[in-house]
Amino acid sequence: MKKNVIVGQSGGPTAVINASLYGVVYEALNREETLGTVYGMINGIEGFLSDQIMDMKPLELSGELELIKTTPGSYLGSCRYKLPENLNDEIYPKLFEKFATYNIGYFFYIGGNDSMDTVSKLSRYASQISSDIHFIGIPKTIDNDLVLTDHTPGFGSAAKYVASTVREITIDASVYDNTKSVTIIEIMGRHAGWLTASSVLARKFEGDNPVLIYLPEVAFDQEAFIEKVKIALETTSNLVVCISEGINDGNGTFICELASDVGVDTFGHKMLTGSGKYLENLVKERLGVKVRSIELNVCQRCSSSMISKMDQKEAIASGAYGVKCALEGETGKMIAFHRTNTNSAGTSTSMDHYQIDYVTEDVNLICNQEKTVPLEWITHDGSDIGPEFLSYAQPLIQGEVTVPTENGIPKFAYRKSLMPL
Ligand code: F6P
Repeated sequence: MKKNVIVGQSGGPTAVINASLYGVVYEALNREETLGTVYGMINGIEGFLSDQIMDMKPLELSGELELIKTTPGSYLGSCRYKLPENLNDEIYPKLFEKFATYNIGYFFYIGGNDSMDTVSKLSRYASQISSDIHFIGIPKTIDNDLVLTDHTPGFGSAAKYVASTVREITIDASVYDNTKSVTIIEIMGRHAGWLTASSVLARKFEGDNPVLIYLPEVAFDQEAFIEKVKIALETTSNLVVCISEGINDGNGTFICELASDVGVDTFGHKMLTGSGKYLENLVKERLGVKVRSIELNVCQRCSSSMISKMDQKEAIASGAYGVKCALEGETGKMIAFHRTNTNSAGTSTSMDHYQIDYVTEDVNLICNQEKTVPLEWITHDGSDIGPEFLSYAQPLIQGEVTVPTENGIPKFAYRKSLMPL
């Protein structure tokens, strides 16, 4: 009897997380001779625990599957759910009974570090009970913080959004020459500064905005920041500063925590938001100039108009490659990207020659780790990004995709309009 496939999405969405879903589903549906039903789990492993699943085949027949390639959000819904560390917990036999009920032979989970923790635990439990289910992680995260992979699907599109939007804001902020102004842009990425570093791609000449860029990798000193802003305003009337949501004092306190209690999500992560507003008030109070803070918030991860064609292509390919690897017998692995033709810094030597190999890496070495921006890519005083980042990031934001429209706005696939709650 043919084994069935199940695929889920978990963690925060990206603009191409559904392109990865497309890759898995399209490839699995095209292997009808080997594979049975292709199921999607609604709201990840948490939804699966209460039998929230759907058959993906009708999506192909209705054309909805094509549409998900350019649809933001996580089509199947998401969760931030941590499986118990103790593999003797009763949840594991419960889950594996459910896998048996649905005759699952292949499990794909599209997500970041926390989701890879789920893949790791399930594959370790499977090995403990000699289950032959194959567990494969498909990477995604705008934070770009997964280890053992050059980058992650979702980062390229978010970086393209950040660079374009910072450019647009810079142009808008530059209209009044007689008024000194500071615009602070807060960018996501949690504890890693990859996405904030992408704002450097908006700069057109030396000294252009964003003049100051602050990542969480370097301790943030408020006094040094105010001094930098003061000096920059002597030569730039309209200063644009990009900061990461995760900037911190280097002693465990996030700048956003200085303004209010941030709270934690269901996985236990602090919800980082508000450092831009905090610094807006600080600059206003200390320098008395016009200040505006802009939190890019979820716009940076759900903009279909800013999907990078390269990112979408790699997201689809990583999903499809995951299916291929699972069928070849791999389990407990995550699909990773190895960049070929790199220089000693590990960055692509030329945009035209950018090339990656799709490989598999041990998911146990990836889960719960964080890859941060190398300190040598950040300038010594921690307020700018060096040239290595440009050659690393530029190939990832290339190309545009056509998003289908309806009545003048993008046409998206929407599961909730198909299924009653
Ligand atoms: O991990 C991806 C991410 O977008 C982070 O950059 C951000 O801090 C977090 O998710 C927000 O999570 P949520 O959407 O669950 O609040």
